[in-house]
Amino acid sequence: MEIRIFRQEDFEEVLTLWDRCDLLRPWNDPEMDIERKMNHDPELFLVAEVSGEIAGSVMGGYDGHRGSAYYLGVHPDYRGRGIANALMNRLEKKLIARGCPKIQLMIRAENDTVLSMYEKLDYEVQDVISMGKRLIVDQEY
Ligand SMILES: CC(C)(COP(=O)(O)OP(=O)(O)OC[C@H]1O[C@@H](n2cnc3c(N)ncnc32)[C@H](O)[C@@H]1OP(=O)(O)O)[C@@H](O)C(=O)NCCC(=O)NCCS
Repeated sequence: MEIRIFRQEDFEEVLTLWDRCDLLRPWNDPEMDIERKMNHDPELFLVAEVSGEIAGSVMGGYDGHRGSAYYLGVHPDYRGRGIANALMNRLEKKLIARGCPKIQLMIRAENDTVLSMYEKLDYEVQDVISMGKRLIVDQEY
């Protein structure tokens, strides 16, 4: 298994992966999300490749204050082999190398699986309310 930076030719496979991982939401246009990422810290967008196939992804970011992780997903056929752990570890190392002091991420309240996974990786549930405001509407839903 190799963790590496996303390449343009991974595009279709990553979209399929996100679909299989149920990471797509009607209000997000994944193609535009990837396009934007290509213009902003693309080296923090990581994929896990196994035998020439894209088995997992995480889209990291750093805004100069906090790091972030989105689109963490591992293909169902490849789960339980430590790929998510490996993706998060690599992202954390890259963020530390940039001097990023803290990583924050959002998970859906009902996603117990990923909650326990992150707790094992020493992430803590924070007593905050996550707020958001759409600035650009990618697609109507
Ligand atoms: C969550 C997800 C990324 C885990 O990927 P994975 O490669 O199977 O995870 P790993 O094998 O690296 O396991 C990481 C840890 O989480 C635990 N874990 C993984 N899946 C689990 C499950 N279904 N139930 C309980 N624990 C689980 C593992 O035991 C492991 O802990 P360990 O290091 O102590 O053994 C994967 O199930 C997935 O893509 N889910 C759908 C998308 C999603 O929910 N993404 C998160 C969005 S915030």
